[in-house]
Amino acid sequence: MSTIGPVPVVEANGAKIPLLGLGTWELRGRTCARVVEQALRLGYTHIDTAEMYGNEREVGEGLRASGVPRDSVFITTKIWPDHFAPRELERAARACLERLHLSEVDLLLLHWPNPKVPLADTIGALCKVKREGLTRHIGVSNFTVALIAEALKASTEPLVCDQVECHPFLDQSKLLAATRAHGMALVAYSPLARGNLRNEVLQRIGAERNKTAAQICLNFLVAQNIVVIPRTSRVERLEENAAIFDFLLREREMREIASLGHRDGRVVDWSYSGRMNWD
Ligand SMILES: NC(=O)c1ccc[n+]([C@@H]2O[C@H](COP(=O)([O-])OP(=O)(O)OC[C@H]3O[C@@H](n4cnc5c(N)ncnc54)[C@H](OP(=O)(O)O)[C@@H]3O)[C@@H](O)[C@H]2O)c1
Repeated sequence: MSTIGPVPVVEANGAKIPLLGLGTWELRGRTCARVVEQALRLGYTHIDTAEMYGNEREVGEGLRASGVPRDSVFITTKIWPDHFAPRELERAARACLERLHLSEVDLLLLHWPNPKVPLADTIGALCKVKREGLTRHIGVSNFTVALIAEALKASTEPLVCDQVECHPFLDQSKLLAATRAHGMALVAYSPLARGNLRNEVLQRIGAERNKTAAQICLNFLVAQNIVVIPRTSRVERLEENAAIFDFLLREREMREIASLGHRDGRVVDWSYSGRMNWD
């Protein structure tokens, strides 16, 4: 297996986040450890996990097995909303580190908003764990434009990103503008729309560029400085999903792909988080 080239980073409120990471939702046990190890050996520099994924141990195993120095990998994990009461959050963050076998992560996120716990209290606890050195940076996930503003108001530490669903079929332009206005990065989850890529535009542009629809999809996002964290359980796809920095889509192609986006283009079910106004 050859290695991928250097992965560019996006700077966001003091954090340098690699534009490409490996998503690990649903990767379990030995598959997870193996894919993480191979991704890092290949040159991935960023891994995304969460306490909810039940795979932090295996992510840590993959990291150690890869032999890659800890400080050349950007590790993100997320605290589940059940643990947003301040003491719970600190306990949960320590448990994440224990499972990962790390003394700190690079980025710790609130996984989803939790309307049952005052946001200012949760953000206060998140800032505290950062000050205590459990994480280098903090951020949020699945936060609306209004919630980002509320979180920023409550925070004494910089918030470096909002991780949200983002791919060509979902119009996230308002959220993207809001994160940019606050100096935050937008991290795209489900950047491959969960693999639903049988789309005429992506396939045609891919064929013209000698790239796959997945590569067109990811390139469209990174060209806008959006961080992507595609997941695969198949080692052979790691290389494909990383070969996205060696071409530039033309303006016309960018516009055509952007026109696929709709406000209701979600593939991830977020109904359990309650109804939210995404503006
Ligand atoms: N913050 C949040 O609430 C949240 C929510 C969802 C996801 N996430 C994070 O974002 C990551 C990515 O999102 P996701 O897992 O929902 O979906 P995704 O990365 O958009 O898609 C993953 C699916 O695409 C397939 N795939 C991967 N590479 C492909 C390729 N080159 N061509 C065709 N199909 C391909 C995979 O199948 P194979 O395994 O067979 O390759 C898998 O079924 C997650 O793993 C997780 O880390 C965060």
